[in-house]
Amino acid sequence: MKSVVLAIESSCDETAAAVLLGDRVLSNVVAGQDVHARYGGVVPELASRAHQGNIVPVVSEALRLSGMTLPDIDVVACTAGPGLMGALLVGTSFAKSLALALGKTLIGVNHMQGHILAHFIRAGEDQPVPSFPFLCLTVSGGHTQLVLVKGPLAMQVIGETLDDAAGEAFDKAAKLLGLPYPGGPQVDRLADLGEDSRFKFTQPKVPGLDFSFSGLKTSLLYQVKALERLQPNARTVHLNDICASYRKAVVDYLLAVTTRAMHQTGVRTLALAGGVSANRLLRAQLQEIAGREGWKLFIPPLAYCTDNAAMIGMAAAFLHESGISHGMDLKPMARMEY
Ligand code: KG4
Ligand code: ZN
Repeated sequence: MKSVVLAIESSCDETAAAVLLGDRVLSNVVAGQDVHARYGGVVPELASRAHQGNIVPVVSEALRLSGMTLPDIDVVACTAGPGLMGALLVGTSFAKSLALALGKTLIGVNHMQGHILAHFIRAGEDQPVPSFPFLCLTVSGGHTQLVLVKGPLAMQVIGETLDDAAGEAFDKAAKLLGLPYPGGPQVDRLADLGEDSRFKFTQPKVPGLDFSFSGLKTSLLYQVKALERLQPNARTVHLNDICASYRKAVVDYLLAVTTRAMHQTGVRTLALAGGVSANRLLRAQLQEIAGREGWKLFIPPLAYCTDNAAMIGMAAAFLHESGISHGMDLKPMARMEY
Protein backbone atom coordinates (compact mmCIF):
# COMPACT_ATOMS: atom_id res chain seq x y z
CA MET A 1 0.00 0.00 0.00
CA LYS A 2 1.40 3.38 -0.98
CA SER A 3 1.38 5.87 1.88
CA VAL A 4 -0.17 9.31 1.80
CA VAL A 5 2.28 11.99 2.96
CA LEU A 6 1.40 15.55 3.90
CA ALA A 7 4.67 17.51 3.74
CA ILE A 8 5.54 20.99 4.99
CA GLU A 9 8.58 23.07 4.00
CA SER A 10 9.49 26.29 5.83
CA SER A 11 13.29 26.44 5.94
CA CYS A 12 13.78 29.84 4.31
CA ASP A 13 11.38 32.28 2.65
CA GLU A 14 8.86 29.92 1.05
CA THR A 15 5.94 28.43 2.99
CA ALA A 16 5.05 25.24 1.15
CA ALA A 17 2.82 22.19 1.59
CA ALA A 18 2.26 19.15 -0.61
CA VAL A 19 0.34 15.89 -0.55
CA LEU A 20 1.89 12.77 -2.13
CA LEU A 21 0.57 9.29 -2.77
CA GLY A 22 3.74 7.21 -3.02
CA ASP A 23 5.90 8.94 -5.65
CA ARG A 24 2.97 10.88 -7.20
CA VAL A 25 2.30 14.48 -6.28
CA LEU A 26 -1.39 15.14 -5.65
CA SER A 27 -0.88 18.82 -4.76
CA ASN A 28 2.04 21.19 -4.38
CA VAL A 29 1.39 24.68 -2.98
CA VAL A 30 4.08 27.34 -2.47
CA ALA A 31 3.58 30.80 -0.95
CA GLY A 32 6.48 33.19 -1.52
CA GLN A 33 7.23 36.14 0.75
CA ASP A 34 7.44 39.50 -1.02
CA VAL A 35 8.25 41.24 2.26
CA HIS A 36 12.02 40.64 1.81
CA ALA A 37 12.41 42.34 -1.58
CA ARG A 38 12.81 45.84 -0.18
CA TYR A 39 15.65 44.71 2.11
CA GLY A 40 17.60 43.05 -0.74
CA GLY A 41 17.71 39.69 1.06
CA VAL A 42 15.82 37.40 3.45
CA VAL A 43 15.17 38.95 6.89
CA PRO A 44 14.89 35.93 9.28
CA GLU A 45 12.40 37.48 11.73
CA LEU A 46 10.11 38.61 8.91
CA ALA A 47 10.33 35.13 7.36
CA SER A 48 9.16 33.49 10.63
CA ARG A 49 6.21 35.87 10.90
CA ALA A 50 5.20 35.32 7.29
CA HIS A 51 5.38 31.53 7.80
CA GLN A 52 3.04 31.87 10.77
CA GLY A 53 0.55 33.76 8.65
CA ASN A 54 0.86 31.43 5.66
CA ILE A 55 1.00 27.98 7.14
CA VAL A 56 -2.69 27.30 7.83
CA PRO A 57 -3.96 28.55 4.44
CA VAL A 58 -1.12 26.80 2.55
CA VAL A 59 -1.69 23.42 4.24
CA SER A 60 -5.49 23.74 3.81
CA GLU A 61 -5.07 24.54 0.13
CA ALA A 62 -2.69 21.60 -0.42
CA LEU A 63 -5.22 19.26 1.21
CA ARG A 64 -8.12 20.69 -0.78
CA LEU A 65 -6.31 20.38 -4.12
CA SER A 66 -5.19 16.81 -3.35
CA GLY A 67 -8.74 15.64 -2.76
CA MET A 68 -7.57 14.05 0.51
CA THR A 69 -8.83 14.75 4.00
CA LEU A 70 -6.86 14.70 7.25
CA PRO A 71 -7.90 11.12 8.17
CA ASP A 72 -6.47 9.89 4.80
CA ILE A 73 -2.98 11.05 5.76
CA ASP A 74 -0.48 8.40 6.92
CA VAL A 75 2.56 10.59 7.49
CA VAL A 76 3.02 14.24 8.44
CA ALA A 77 6.47 15.34 7.22
CA CYS A 78 8.35 18.59 7.72
CA THR A 79 11.76 20.07 7.00
CA ALA A 80 13.85 19.65 10.16
CA GLY A 81 16.90 21.54 8.78
CA PRO A 82 19.14 23.04 7.61
CA GLY A 83 17.62 26.52 7.46
CA LEU A 84 16.64 29.58 9.47
CA MET A 85 15.85 28.50 13.02
CA GLY A 86 12.73 30.66 13.46
CA ALA A 87 11.39 29.61 10.07
CA LEU A 88 12.01 25.90 10.74
CA LEU A 89 10.32 26.20 14.14
CA VAL A 90 7.04 27.25 12.52
CA GLY A 91 6.94 24.21 10.20
CA THR A 92 8.17 21.65 12.73
CA SER A 93 5.83 22.87 15.52
CA PHE A 94 2.88 22.81 13.15
CA ALA A 95 3.72 19.32 11.84
CA LYS A 96 4.25 17.97 15.35
CA SER A 97 0.91 19.33 16.59
CA LEU A 98 -0.89 17.94 13.56
CA ALA A 99 0.71 14.49 13.87
CA LEU A 100 -0.02 14.41 17.61
CA ALA A 101 -3.64 15.52 17.25
CA LEU A 102 -4.33 13.05 14.43
CA GLY A 103 -2.24 10.18 15.84
CA LYS A 104 -0.16 10.04 12.62
CA THR A 105 3.51 9.23 11.97
CA LEU A 106 5.85 12.25 12.12
CA ILE A 107 8.95 12.42 9.90
CA GLY A 108 11.55 15.22 9.92
CA VAL A 109 13.45 15.60 6.65
CA ASN A 110 16.84 17.04 5.75
CA HIS A 111 16.10 19.82 3.24
CA MET A 112 19.22 19.03 1.16
CA GLN A 113 18.27 15.37 0.96
CA GLY A 114 14.84 16.57 -0.20
CA HIS A 115 16.38 18.57 -3.08
CA ILE A 116 18.14 15.40 -4.27
CA LEU A 117 15.23 12.98 -3.80
CA ALA A 118 12.97 15.32 -5.81
CA HIS A 119 14.40 13.41 -8.80
CA PHE A 120 12.26 10.41 -7.80
CA ILE A 121 8.91 12.21 -8.07
CA ARG A 122 7.09 10.68 -11.02
CA ALA A 123 4.48 12.19 -13.29
CA GLY A 124 3.89 8.80 -14.97
CA GLU A 125 5.07 5.17 -15.03
CA ASP A 126 7.38 5.71 -18.00
CA GLN A 127 9.20 8.70 -16.48
CA PRO A 128 12.85 7.69 -15.97
CA VAL A 129 14.53 8.33 -12.61
CA PRO A 130 18.28 8.22 -11.89
CA SER A 131 19.81 4.88 -10.96
CA PHE A 132 22.34 4.63 -8.14
CA PRO A 133 25.07 5.68 -7.79
CA PHE A 134 24.78 9.16 -9.26
CA LEU A 135 26.28 12.56 -8.62
CA CYS A 136 24.03 15.49 -7.72
CA LEU A 137 25.06 19.12 -8.17
CA THR A 138 22.85 21.07 -5.76
CA VAL A 139 22.96 24.80 -6.46
CA SER A 140 20.64 27.05 -4.46
CA GLY A 141 20.64 30.41 -2.72
CA GLY A 142 22.08 28.86 0.43
CA HIS A 143 24.05 25.84 -0.77
CA THR A 144 26.43 24.58 -3.41
CA GLN A 145 27.25 20.90 -3.01
CA LEU A 146 28.42 17.93 -5.00
CA VAL A 147 26.83 14.86 -3.47
CA LEU A 148 27.63 11.25 -4.30
CA VAL A 149 24.25 9.51 -4.00
CA LYS A 150 24.76 5.80 -3.36
CA GLY A 151 21.19 5.12 -2.28
CA PRO A 152 18.09 7.11 -1.27
CA LEU A 153 19.43 7.48 2.24
CA ALA A 154 23.16 7.02 1.57
CA MET A 155 24.58 10.34 0.48
CA GLN A 156 28.11 11.69 0.78
CA VAL A 157 29.08 15.32 0.24
CA ILE A 158 32.29 15.21 -1.81
CA GLY A 159 32.53 18.95 -2.45
CA GLU A 160 30.91 22.16 -1.24
CA THR A 161 31.37 25.89 -1.21
CA LEU A 162 33.77 27.37 1.30
CA ASP A 163 32.00 30.76 1.24
CA ASP A 164 29.07 32.02 -0.89
CA ALA A 165 26.61 29.67 -2.58
CA ALA A 166 26.18 29.80 -6.38
CA GLY A 167 22.78 31.49 -6.03
CA GLU A 168 24.27 33.99 -3.60
CA ALA A 169 27.02 34.74 -6.15
CA PHE A 170 24.28 35.69 -8.63
CA ASP A 171 22.21 37.57 -6.03
CA LYS A 172 25.17 39.60 -4.74
CA ALA A 173 26.27 40.48 -8.28
CA ALA A 174 22.71 41.59 -9.07
CA LYS A 175 22.61 43.78 -5.96
CA LEU A 176 25.91 45.40 -6.96
CA LEU A 177 24.46 46.09 -10.40
CA GLY A 178 21.33 47.65 -8.89
CA LEU A 179 18.96 44.79 -9.85
CA PRO A 180 16.13 43.74 -7.52
CA TYR A 181 16.30 40.70 -5.17
CA PRO A 182 16.49 37.79 -5.86
CA GLY A 183 18.81 38.81 -8.66
CA GLY A 184 19.74 35.41 -10.15
CA PRO A 185 16.86 35.35 -12.65
CA GLN A 186 17.51 39.02 -13.63
CA VAL A 187 21.20 38.41 -14.32
CA ASP A 188 20.24 35.35 -16.37
CA ARG A 189 17.70 37.31 -18.41
CA LEU A 190 20.00 40.28 -19.14
CA ALA A 191 22.93 37.94 -19.86
CA ASP A 192 21.01 36.57 -22.86
CA LEU A 193 21.20 40.08 -24.38
CA GLY A 194 24.90 40.64 -23.75
CA GLU A 195 28.36 39.68 -25.02
CA ASP A 196 29.97 37.15 -22.67
CA SER A 197 33.58 37.76 -23.71
CA ARG A 198 33.62 41.48 -22.86
CA PHE A 199 34.88 41.05 -19.29
CA LYS A 200 37.28 38.47 -17.89
CA PHE A 201 37.09 36.68 -14.55
CA THR A 202 39.81 34.30 -13.37
CA GLN A 203 38.47 30.93 -12.26
CA PRO A 204 38.74 30.45 -8.49
CA LYS A 205 41.42 27.94 -7.49
CA VAL A 206 40.32 25.69 -4.67
CA PRO A 207 41.89 22.30 -3.97
CA GLY A 208 39.80 19.13 -4.35
CA LEU A 209 36.13 19.34 -5.25
CA ASP A 210 35.19 22.36 -3.12
CA PHE A 211 34.01 25.71 -4.50
CA SER A 212 34.60 29.37 -3.68
CA PHE A 213 32.53 32.17 -5.19
CA SER A 214 33.55 35.20 -3.15
CA GLY A 215 36.53 35.99 -5.43
CA LEU A 216 34.30 36.25 -8.51
CA LYS A 217 32.05 38.73 -6.75
CA THR A 218 35.04 40.84 -5.61
CA SER A 219 36.51 40.74 -9.10
CA LEU A 220 33.17 42.02 -10.44
CA LEU A 221 33.20 44.88 -7.92
CA TYR A 222 36.74 45.94 -8.91
CA GLN A 223 36.00 45.76 -12.63
CA VAL A 224 32.84 47.83 -12.24
CA LYS A 225 34.70 50.45 -10.17
CA ALA A 226 37.52 50.63 -12.73
CA LEU A 227 34.99 51.11 -15.52
CA GLU A 228 33.20 53.82 -13.59
CA ARG A 229 36.39 55.82 -13.17
CA LEU A 230 36.45 56.20 -16.95
CA GLN A 231 32.70 56.38 -17.52
CA PRO A 232 30.45 57.26 -14.52
CA ASN A 233 27.38 55.44 -15.90
CA ALA A 234 29.34 52.33 -16.95
CA ARG A 235 27.24 50.05 -14.76
CA THR A 236 24.15 50.85 -16.81
CA VAL A 237 25.79 51.16 -20.21
CA HIS A 238 27.55 47.78 -19.98
CA LEU A 239 24.91 46.01 -17.86
CA ASN A 240 24.07 43.23 -20.35
CA ASP A 241 27.71 42.50 -21.17
CA ILE A 242 28.64 42.44 -17.48
CA CYS A 243 25.77 40.00 -16.74
CA ALA A 244 26.72 37.77 -19.69
CA SER A 245 30.42 37.65 -18.75
CA TYR A 246 29.70 37.07 -15.07
CA ARG A 247 27.12 34.33 -15.75
CA LYS A 248 29.60 32.59 -18.04
CA ALA A 249 32.30 32.75 -15.35
CA VAL A 250 30.00 31.20 -12.68
CA VAL A 251 28.66 28.50 -15.02
CA ASP A 252 32.10 27.61 -16.47
CA TYR A 253 33.39 27.24 -12.92
CA LEU A 254 30.47 25.05 -11.77
CA LEU A 255 30.94 22.84 -14.83
CA ALA A 256 34.71 22.54 -14.42
CA VAL A 257 34.46 21.26 -10.83
CA THR A 258 31.48 19.01 -11.64
CA THR A 259 33.29 17.46 -14.61
CA ARG A 260 36.33 16.81 -12.39
CA ALA A 261 34.05 15.13 -9.82
CA MET A 262 32.43 12.93 -12.50
CA HIS A 263 35.84 11.81 -13.77
CA GLN A 264 37.20 11.21 -10.25
CA THR A 265 34.23 9.15 -9.07
CA GLY A 266 33.72 7.34 -12.37
CA VAL A 267 29.96 7.89 -11.99
CA ARG A 268 28.05 8.18 -15.30
CA THR A 269 24.81 9.79 -14.13
CA LEU A 270 24.52 13.46 -13.16
CA ALA A 271 21.56 15.17 -11.52
CA LEU A 272 20.96 18.89 -11.00
CA ALA A 273 19.01 20.36 -8.06
CA GLY A 274 18.28 23.74 -6.42
CA GLY A 275 16.98 27.09 -7.67
CA VAL A 276 20.04 27.90 -9.82
CA SER A 277 19.02 24.91 -12.01
CA ALA A 278 16.74 27.46 -13.66
CA ASN A 279 19.78 29.17 -15.16
CA ARG A 280 19.51 28.89 -18.90
CA LEU A 281 23.24 28.78 -19.65
CA LEU A 282 23.85 26.16 -16.94
CA ARG A 283 21.12 23.91 -18.34
CA ALA A 284 22.30 24.29 -21.94
CA GLN A 285 25.97 23.72 -21.11
CA LEU A 286 25.16 20.69 -18.97
CA GLN A 287 23.15 19.13 -21.81
CA GLU A 288 26.07 19.71 -24.14
CA ILE A 289 28.72 18.23 -21.83
CA ALA A 290 26.51 15.28 -20.91
CA GLY A 291 26.04 14.53 -24.63
CA ARG A 292 29.78 14.77 -25.28
CA GLU A 293 30.79 12.66 -22.26
CA GLY A 294 27.96 10.13 -22.62
CA TRP A 295 26.49 10.90 -19.19
CA LYS A 296 22.83 10.46 -18.29
CA LEU A 297 21.56 13.85 -17.15
CA PHE A 298 18.54 14.52 -14.92
CA ILE A 299 17.07 17.99 -14.44
CA PRO A 300 13.70 17.98 -12.63
CA PRO A 301 10.88 20.38 -13.57
CA LEU A 302 11.53 23.83 -12.17
CA ALA A 303 8.75 23.52 -9.57
CA TYR A 304 10.73 20.71 -7.93
CA CYS A 305 14.12 22.51 -8.24
CA THR A 306 13.26 25.61 -6.24
CA ASP A 307 12.15 25.20 -2.62
CA ASN A 308 8.95 23.15 -2.42
CA ALA A 309 7.24 20.65 -0.13
CA ALA A 310 6.81 17.87 -2.73
CA MET A 311 10.53 17.09 -2.43
CA ILE A 312 10.18 16.91 1.36
CA GLY A 313 7.24 14.51 0.91
CA MET A 314 9.28 12.34 -1.49
CA ALA A 315 12.18 12.14 0.98
CA ALA A 316 9.73 11.32 3.79
CA ALA A 317 8.29 8.48 1.69
CA PHE A 318 11.79 6.96 1.41
CA LEU A 319 12.36 7.37 5.17
CA HIS A 320 8.95 5.84 5.93
CA GLU A 321 9.73 2.88 3.67
CA SER A 322 12.92 2.30 5.70
CA GLY A 323 10.96 2.38 8.96
CA ILE A 324 12.33 5.76 10.07
CA SER A 325 10.06 8.15 12.00
CA HIS A 326 10.43 10.79 14.69
CA GLY A 327 8.95 11.54 18.07
CA MET A 328 7.66 14.73 19.62
CA ASP A 329 11.26 15.53 20.60
CA LEU A 330 12.13 16.27 16.93
CA LYS A 331 14.20 19.45 17.00
CA PRO A 332 14.73 21.88 14.13
CA MET A 333 18.40 22.27 13.27
CA ALA A 334 19.89 25.34 11.58
CA ARG A 335 22.83 23.15 10.50
CA MET A 336 22.27 19.55 9.64
CA GLU A 337 24.57 16.86 8.24
CA TYR A 338 23.34 14.14 5.88
O1 KG4 B 1 16.59 26.55 -4.18
P1 KG4 B 1 16.11 27.98 -4.09
O2 KG4 B 1 14.75 28.29 -4.61
O3 KG4 B 1 16.11 28.47 -2.61
C1 KG4 B 1 17.12 28.19 -1.71
O4 KG4 B 1 17.08 27.12 -1.06
O5 KG4 B 1 18.05 29.03 -1.66
O6 KG4 B 1 17.21 28.87 -4.84
C2 KG4 B 1 17.09 30.26 -4.94
C3 KG4 B 1 18.32 30.80 -5.64
C4 KG4 B 1 18.43 32.31 -5.57
O7 KG4 B 1 19.75 32.65 -5.20
C5 KG4 B 1 18.12 32.75 -6.99
O8 KG4 B 1 18.73 33.95 -7.38
C6 KG4 B 1 18.69 31.59 -7.78
O9 KG4 B 1 18.30 30.45 -7.03
N1 KG4 B 1 18.14 31.54 -9.14
C7 KG4 B 1 18.87 31.72 -10.27
C8 KG4 B 1 17.99 31.63 -11.35
N2 KG4 B 1 16.72 31.40 -10.86
C9 KG4 B 1 16.85 31.33 -9.50
N3 KG4 B 1 20.20 31.95 -10.42
C10 KG4 B 1 20.64 32.09 -11.68
N4 KG4 B 1 19.85 32.03 -12.77
C11 KG4 B 1 18.53 31.81 -12.66
N5 KG4 B 1 17.75 31.73 -13.75
ZN1 ZN C 1 16.54 24.77 -0.93
